[in-house]
Amino acid sequence: MAQKRVTVIGSINMDITVHVDQIPQQGETIMGLGSANYPGGKGANQAVAAAKLGAYTSMIATVGEDMFGHQLMENLRKNKVFVSNVEPVTYLETGTAIILLCNNDNRIIVNSGANSSLTEEVLIRNKDTIQSSDVVLLQLEIPLPSVYRAAKIAKDAGVKVILNPAPYHNLPTSLLEMVDYITPNETEAAALLKDSENPRALKDKLIITNGEDGISFYERNEEKRIPSFSVQVKDTTGAGDAFNGAFAVKIAEGYSKEEACKFANAVAAISITKVGAQSGLPNLEEVENFITKGR
Ligand code: RIB
Repeated sequence: MAQKRVTVIGSINMDITVHVDQIPQQGETIMGLGSANYPGGKGANQAVAAAKLGAYTSMIATVGEDMFGHQLMENLRKNKVFVSNVEPVTYLETGTAIILLCNNDNRIIVNSGANSSLTEEVLIRNKDTIQSSDVVLLQLEIPLPSVYRAAKIAKDAGVKVILNPAPYHNLPTSLLEMVDYITPNETEAAALLKDSENPRALKDKLIITNGEDGISFYERNEEKRIPSFSVQVKDTTGAGDAFNGAFAVKIAEGYSKEEACKFANAVAAISITKVGAQSGLPNLEEVENFITKGR
């Protein structure tokens, strides 16, 4: 099969990760159990996931001209993500995320930094890349007008659009109408349905990632469920991103929604067996072995 084109438009962050055995209370100082920096950002995580699974993956993004920016660009190149549409900004620092890892769970604070410079003008400059994609993959760590503009350029060119609505914002109906698949987690899905003017139309586009409860989606208003895999969890940071990157590849390759979900569910399961949002992202062979062994 000819290599399909996935374009990810979104954030690039350095994840400053600290292991703790409790979450500090207000005004409290606690000792961490160790820390490390990992490449992250929902956009970059999804791009690396897609590239590792064999898609021709481009990122449209903005990154600071600083040490983290250089390290993160190098990491994207190393993972075969095309970065010629990533624009450097000199007036803002590269995005960061402070992540507390506690008992297999995480708490995340994102500092947008240079990601907030991903304006509509950047998208207009890079519209050829969007228009020549098979799938465009979006999240909400960049300005909302830019998400809207990207979806519009893609939709007008007949390109499929996947929106991962994280972190959650109340979204205009006009944006949701341009999107083919919306991939919230449980909490985001509940908020989306509550805020929606037309929950029934929205439902058919929803693919909900429920963590250890698996994946659910609707077909002709009927709910379908795909159970999760049982794995040794090290870090769930970026599991949703692994799912989205993999789902985008399979949709670009023409698989059905259900087939794409099953595959992406396996990719997300493998991704949580290592610490760091991108450390556990598998290549195609690793996913096929994992599915065959049924683990
Ligand atoms: O989805 C996980 C990601 O969210 C982290 O990598 C962090 O950077 C935040 O963007």
